[in-house]
Amino acid sequence: MTKSRDEQVFELYEQLLEIEQRLIPTGLHVFGRPSSATERADLLKMIASFDRPESGVRALPEEFIDDAIRVFQEHGSDAAVAYLEERGFQAGSVFKLLETVSTKLETNNEMDALVRALRGEFIEPGPGADIVQNPDILPTGRNTHAINPYGVPSAVAFARGKIVAASLLDRYKEENGRYPEAMALVLWGLDNIKTQGEGVAQALWLLGVRPVRDALNRATNVEAIPLEELGRPRVDVVMTVSGIFRDLFSPTVHLLDKAVRLVAHLDEPLDQNYVRKHVVEQMAHADCDADEAAIRVFSNAPGNYGTNVNFMVMDSQWEREETLGDLFVTRKCFAYGRDSKGRTIEGREARIAMDRALSRVEATYQNIDTFEIGLTDVDHYFEYLGGVSKAVEKRAQARPSIYLSDSLSREVKIRSLEETVRLETRAKTLNPKWYEGMLKHGFRGVAEIENHVSNTFGWSATADAVDDWIYSEVANTFVFDESMLERLKELNPHSAHSLVRRLLEANGRGYWETDQSVLEKLQEIMRDLEDQLEGVAQ
Ligand code: BEZ
Ligand code: MG
Repeated sequence: MTKSRDEQVFELYEQLLEIEQRLIPTGLHVFGRPSSATERADLLKMIASFDRPESGVRALPEEFIDDAIRVFQEHGSDAAVAYLEERGFQAGSVFKLLETVSTKLETNNEMDALVRALRGEFIEPGPGADIVQNPDILPTGRNTHAINPYGVPSAVAFARGKIVAASLLDRYKEENGRYPEAMALVLWGLDNIKTQGEGVAQALWLLGVRPVRDALNRATNVEAIPLEELGRPRVDVVMTVSGIFRDLFSPTVHLLDKAVRLVAHLDEPLDQNYVRKHVVEQMAHADCDADEAAIRVFSNAPGNYGTNVNFMVMDSQWEREETLGDLFVTRKCFAYGRDSKGRTIEGREARIAMDRALSRVEATYQNIDTFEIGLTDVDHYFEYLGGVSKAVEKRAQARPSIYLSDSLSREVKIRSLEETVRLETRAKTLNPKWYEGMLKHGFRGVAEIENHVSNTFGWSATADAVDDWIYSEVANTFVFDESMLERLKELNPHSAHSLVRRLLEANGRGYWETDQSVLEKLQEIMRDLEDQLEGVAQ
């Protein structure tokens, strides 16, 4: 079906808006330093753009946010409330919140708290979360506490989880004409703290179960949502959880394992219950009993963390891509849960069970819940979501569809990995507002730019998800612009060198097709940088 010209123009317009409206951090936090007025204005606008039903606060209308925050900063909250009232909007409760937040942002006790902590004195506790989602994290410089794992998923998280899981399945169905039989999900500890378990809720919804609370209001059990109510098959879910999640959310690990085992035992048609279908198929293997066939929660061996896929990529210590997926499984094939006799399984190596579970996966997914850290900001997204996707590719003999959700925008949005990489690249790596913000931090800022390029490369290595134009534009922006290259060399020649080397590696490994003349120029610049670095070393 070809789209009309108007439809194409409208789609382009929507994409431009999406990039323009994307929230991005425009610099690094400096320990002990309160935020500047401009930084405060940006944060206040973000905070004011979300409804907060729990405290009766409504988001400010988008068209007035900029002016209302300016009036607030220049003349105080009464003036801002009056400004909005003239435009027919009651904003008393929003500005009460913004006033508190603004005051807390103007002070900074981090250094004092650090000194007191070093003296072994008491540090006041405070919640750890994303500032936009929970402004109560202020003031900073407190002893961050997490969450009661028995409260996870919260009622709000479960309600949101349903919307995300439904959008995710809709998107897959749109592209493939049917529901996926099995998905692999990445669950992180900090994310589930920040959202009170949105990732956990999504896993439960895909399986088609809801949490049940005991007499002490602890989420310790699950019940099946009837198929008629669910209106779709139950999806098999392979959960790869971080070491942090395993440590912080032990009761939740057991809840997830219990959910899989409950669903596996429901007397339902196999085409409506893919967990049961796969468990039955798996038990046909002589070496596999029912307990073994229903293992779906995997993490590191006890006491271990991470996949090491990021280190392998960063150090260029690999030849074949499948090694990256194999390393992921080697690190993550430890089972957690409880068997049918009620005995706990605490990190038993279960490589065959994981290989088999992954061999049925058709889509992989991770939730992104903060504007502060995205796909290319850290190497952890590609080590986890990229790692599991590469492991699936070999075991299922097909590349899975890879998705991310965006629960940081007002409405939930599911994007493919490729779409998310493009959006992050345009909103951050190639956005002058972002990189100039980074460059104000000098040496560290250049390192951040180089990290973004390397993390982008990580998505080529694990998922072949990076378009050629991305590498070309990185080269044009940071290497072939002479004055930019001079700035990078001056501030941090090591990172400038790594950036150029990474671009050459992208071409060498077949992820970036470009002209020979471009490569020759890059090689020449790399030699210059090497000479400069040798000069420094002597
Ligand atoms: C976690 O919160 O579980 C996590 C954080 C950083 C990297 C990997 C996992
Ligand atoms: Mg390509």
